Amino acid sequence: MKIIRAKDYKDMSRKAANIISAQVIMKPNCVLGLATGGTPVGTYAQLIDWYNKGDVDFSEVTTVNLDEYRGLPRDHEQSYWYFMQKNFFGSVNVQPDRIHVPDGSNPNAEEACREYDAIIRNVGGIDLQLLGIGVDGHIGFNEPGQAFELGTHCVDLTESTIDANQRFFNSRDEVPRQAYTMGIKTIMQARKVLMVANGANKAEIIKKAFFGPVTPEVPASILQMHPDFILVGDQDALALI
Ligand code: PGA
Repeated sequence: MKIIRAKDYKDMSRKAANIISAQVIMKPNCVLGLATGGTPVGTYAQLIDWYNKGDVDFSEVTTVNLDEYRGLPRDHEQSYWYFMQKNFFGSVNVQPDRIHVPDGSNPNAEEACREYDAIIRNVGGIDLQLLGIGVDGHIGFNEPGQAFELGTHCVDLTESTIDANQRFFNSRDEVPRQAYTMGIKTIMQARKVLMVANGANKAEIIKKAFFGPVTPEVPASILQMHPDFILVGDQDALALI
């Protein structure tokens, strides 16, 4: 486990974007596992900036996103597909046919998850997986208490995640109650894992996840066992370690 201290959110975003662009430069046809949430937005903005300057080229890159709400079509403003278009794909040259997000519009959970695992397998697995972390230690939508050995699966969101995500919807009732997510097994199989974390509200969970016991009660704690895990955090998020 490697921990990189950043001064602030901007510095965290630049450092994470540097690691991603190094990956793309070293292997132009790499597979990037991407994440939604507030934390990685600055990382995407930095990558877009470097793309516009001609410093990084995504034309051969394949992407697989971590998760998607079950029941939201791609064009729903709160779907993760839409988020990724708005915050990244719409501004860089990732080829549309190489962009993959679990199919939230498929009500058949078993089929949607099986198909997504097949996509990840067929692209040769993930070279670099970008992650945020929830205040309860979730990664993707892998909530506390779930088995470590799952591939892509359908989850019921916890009350705390519904609370955290309601800021993006008109009301709490509108937040979907389920999602399709890569499992911990899928994430652990990525060849490199890069987590970004900022803000004082993440300090407790960062300490618990990376300096406490490895337990399904803290899903991110399994990353202690990953052979190439990098955490880039700002001062506030790393304040307790
Ligand atoms: P955030 O979400 O980046 O919006 O804090 C992190 C997560 O829930 O994975």
